Amino acid sequence: MEIIIQPTPEAGSIVAAQIIAKLVRRKPDCVLGLATGSTPLGTYRELIRMHREDGLDFANVTTFNLDEYVGLPLEHPQSYRAFMAENFFRQVNANARRTHIPDGLARDVPAECARYEAAIVAAGGIDLQLLGIGTDGHIGFNEPSSSLASRTRIKTLTERTRADNARFFHGDLAQVPFHCITMGVGTIMASREVLMLAFGANKADAVAAAVEGPITAMNPASVLQMHPVAKCVVDGAAAAKLARRDYYHWVFAHKPDWQKISA
Ligand code: F6R
Repeated sequence: MEIIIQPTPEAGSIVAAQIIAKLVRRKPDCVLGLATGSTPLGTYRELIRMHREDGLDFANVTTFNLDEYVGLPLEHPQSYRAFMAENFFRQVNANARRTHIPDGLARDVPAECARYEAAIVAAGGIDLQLLGIGTDGHIGFNEPSSSLASRTRIKTLTERTRADNARFFHGDLAQVPFHCITMGVGTIMASREVLMLAFGANKADAVAAAVEGPITAMNPASVLQMHPVAKCVVDGAAAAKLARRDYYHWVFAHKPDWQKISA
């Protein structure tokens, strides 16, 4: 895994947006896997800026989000459909027909999960999957002990994840759904490139375990060690518990010109 340590979340978000923008410019009809939560917001803001100021074009980009809560009405401000519309899709020229999010209101959840997997395959697979990481090491909503070969399915959120996410529901834990539909770990691993972001001291343990610990279903993000093209962008606080921090800085500083990241 390539570890890119940046001084602040803002700087990390710019690097992440540059990586995504480079792909969109090289392949205007690429397929992006997207995430919600606090972590990618700065990256979305920078992509929106690039769209407005530099003409970064999303018209032919197809997107698949990682997950959606089960049972929240579409118009609920915390449904991931609403979150994505507000924080990204509406602010760039995304084509609504090309933006995909699991249907958390589907009557037949297993059928919806199978449909979602088939839609990813029909789109040609995901070129780049953007990820955050939970304080317990989850990616998507694949909580610890999730099968590392899992595909899109229903999952039950842990109490820790529900508590972490209560801040989006005015701190009211009772409002946080218990279930979600999430891409599986195997679905994420099938994407051609993975870009995981982690900012803040509360992510330092999960990041250290994912990057330098053993590969284990108890920290689902650790399986990214097996992904051939995985990058992890962290700020100093999230990197604080990495034993080989100096080496990751060294690698980044000595990239050959052709490997340097710029939009
Ligand atoms: C979001 C998702 C989750 C979050 C993770 C971190 O679509 O799948 O894995 O990325 O819970 O959330 P934040 O960024 O809010 O700390």
